[in-house]
Amino acid sequence: MSTKRGNWNSKLGFILAASGSAIGLGNIVFFSSNAYQYGGGAFYLPYFVALFVLGLPIMMMEFGMGTLTGKSFPLALRQLAGKRAEFVGWWSIASAMFITAYYVAILGWAFGMMVGAFGSLFEPGITAPFAPFANPTESASAMVYFFSLLATWWPVVFIFVIWGLNLLILRNGTATIERAVRIFVPLMWLFMIGLVVRGLTLDGGFDGAMYLFTPDLEGIADANVWRGAFSQMFFSLSLGLGTMTAYASYLPKDADQVNNSLLVSFLNCGFEFIAGLAIFSLLFVYALNPAGSTLSLSFFVIPQGINELSTIPWITRLFGFLFFFLIVIAGLTSSISLIEGPAAALIDKLKISRRKALTIIAVPCMIGSVLCTLPIIVDQGLNGNGTLGLSILDITDHWVFSYSLLIVGLVECLAIGWILGADKLRLALNQYARYPLGRWFNVLIKYVIPTLLATVILSSLWEERS
Ligand code: PHE
Repeated sequence: MSTKRGNWNSKLGFILAASGSAIGLGNIVFFSSNAYQYGGGAFYLPYFVALFVLGLPIMMMEFGMGTLTGKSFPLALRQLAGKRAEFVGWWSIASAMFITAYYVAILGWAFGMMVGAFGSLFEPGITAPFAPFANPTESASAMVYFFSLLATWWPVVFIFVIWGLNLLILRNGTATIERAVRIFVPLMWLFMIGLVVRGLTLDGGFDGAMYLFTPDLEGIADANVWRGAFSQMFFSLSLGLGTMTAYASYLPKDADQVNNSLLVSFLNCGFEFIAGLAIFSLLFVYALNPAGSTLSLSFFVIPQGINELSTIPWITRLFGFLFFFLIVIAGLTSSISLIEGPAAALIDKLKISRRKALTIIAVPCMIGSVLCTLPIIVDQGLNGNGTLGLSILDITDHWVFSYSLLIVGLVECLAIGWILGADKLRLALNQYARYPLGRWFNVLIKYVIPTLLATVILSSLWEERS
């Protein structure tokens, strides 16, 4: 089973790595703010459609491409669907690099908040702006701290720390990735469960959860809600960026990819579900207003709730620290996979060493991360009303998150569905599957998914004009 490219030591190692990739900022930071922005319960129908109609079949396809060819995304597409299909593979690798740049920048800020919270544990008298969780009476201290942090060069230092950790984990490929996820993935489940138990046992916490799960059919006619749910699902399941194919290519040929897809999607959406519960219960109990950008929710609205969790300062500080620690480890297991996709693609294509491939990817992405966070670039003009305008980061996020992933998903379905033939992939997957796929799989890949994606992409672009 050993190949030069790398291989997972066990099935568990792969499941931890793939679910670690899926569970990240998307589940904690983006999911709640998207669910809120698109109307809580109104988000749920599109979300479930996104999971069962798009997410699961595309994950099976991306995993299948990896085990079938033993190659990373662009070359797998080339082998299965021809030279022209390879192009979309490289497009997705480029998108992954753009996302990595700002993903690590956000992780750097989370790291900064974590360090601040940790420091304040040992300094009882400290107040804002020197600590994100200062006193229970200063509920806005996280916001004050966050903005004063952004106005310094510290985030640049933290970005280098996060990049350093990523490269350290990635330098030996699957061996070190597996070791890292064996520690981080169970830990992040533990913390998230702790947070949700605390949130739901608060007086009124349950009402917040109800808001999230009360269906609201009004928003369903809005194309933006659908696009929001589709992009969220792609991002959350790590699809459309070459990640899952690269990870799957390190598995033996007889892996049951139907089952693996079910497991990874279930773990990811289960985590997202309890993260939503934890966050919405806090929002409701403390009547917080999460309006503003995606990031304001995690960086100062939730912290505001955490600050009010207890009248004893060290308890709020400990929770604050754990919240950001959770974001950092969940984000790390995702960012390593974001970088591994492009690294594997370069190693396969150019036959270069892992170290060289990592350098080629890390240097431009690192510059991108720094650019996203420079004090002169982060737009502070909006912070008066509690929102955050982050120019470069927001623009990249908008185009890559909202469109690129969906476009890659559309083209790969067309390439695999029509050029290779969806049935060939289905039969290959079924060969080792405990629960074989029916012909409905072909219908989804060839017709349903492309139609849904094309409709959502086109109607959102149309709305973009105004
Ligand atoms: N799924 C990750 C998250 O939810 C982000 C990610 C996307 C990681 C694509 C790898 C590839 O945070």
